[in-house]
Amino acid sequence: MPALAQASIPQYLENTYWWAYLHPRAVHIFERQWLVNLILWGNFAKLRDAALHELGDSINGRVLQVACVYGDFTEHLVRRLGKQGSIDVIDVAPIQIKNLHTKLSDMRRVNAQLQDSTALQFADGTHDATVVFFLLHEQPADVRRKTIAEALRVTKPGGKLVFVDYHKPKSYSPWRYLMVPVLTTLEPFAMDVWNNEIESWLPEGAPVAKLEKQTYFAGLYQKVVITKKA
Ligand SMILES: C[S@@+](CC[C@H](N)C(=O)[O-])C[C@H]1O[C@@H](n2cnc3c(N)ncnc32)[C@H](O)[C@@H]1O
Repeated sequence: MPALAQASIPQYLENTYWWAYLHPRAVHIFERQWLVNLILWGNFAKLRDAALHELGDSINGRVLQVACVYGDFTEHLVRRLGKQGSIDVIDVAPIQIKNLHTKLSDMRRVNAQLQDSTALQFADGTHDATVVFFLLHEQPADVRRKTIAEALRVTKPGGKLVFVDYHKPKSYSPWRYLMVPVLTTLEPFAMDVWNNEIESWLPEGAPVAKLEKQTYFAGLYQKVVITKKA
């Protein structure tokens, strides 16, 4: 893991999410499928599969997963690997990379590296697809913008970027009101993702051929798929 010494823990992560991702007990508490499913109100598998569906049933290219995810997201990604496929997973927290090694039974085609999403250690256009699952709402706007720019940079021309995250629910949905105190208390950057479109954080002149957005659970969640210009 050559990038090991280079990534330092960002301040927002240390200050806001230490209890979820950095504390030694965090992994012990949160690495439970039922709990991550409960946090997403029973939608974990649906959202996981919606993201992975974009990569195809048999992945034969090189896929980048930006940031670790509790639960079986990466395991399901690995299950889709065809003979020519490979996966890179990056995360800025050593404890999360260690946890990935512990929970995945087969790491042969998974390259887990300590990296910051705002300064990826991959050359331009190295990945056929890049997936970012529930990371953007945990980052301040300037960091989020850099993460998206980096994801776009390392994705090949013609490749896909898949974002799954929170979204502002429809006005008839109770979640539009019930989730506000939860998110404003625990996730201070999340409302920004409710109130703005993911495309608004794309770099100016981004080489986007197509952008498709789909919402789920009365609009509380969204999937945005960007196809990069060939
Ligand atoms: C993908 S997000 C949230 C995923 C989801 N809420 C879950 O249940 O796991 C959480 C991960 O993002 C990582 N992370 C946060 N900021 C990062 C950054 N700048 N670069 C790389 N990883 C980052 C954290 O260390 C954590 O492992």
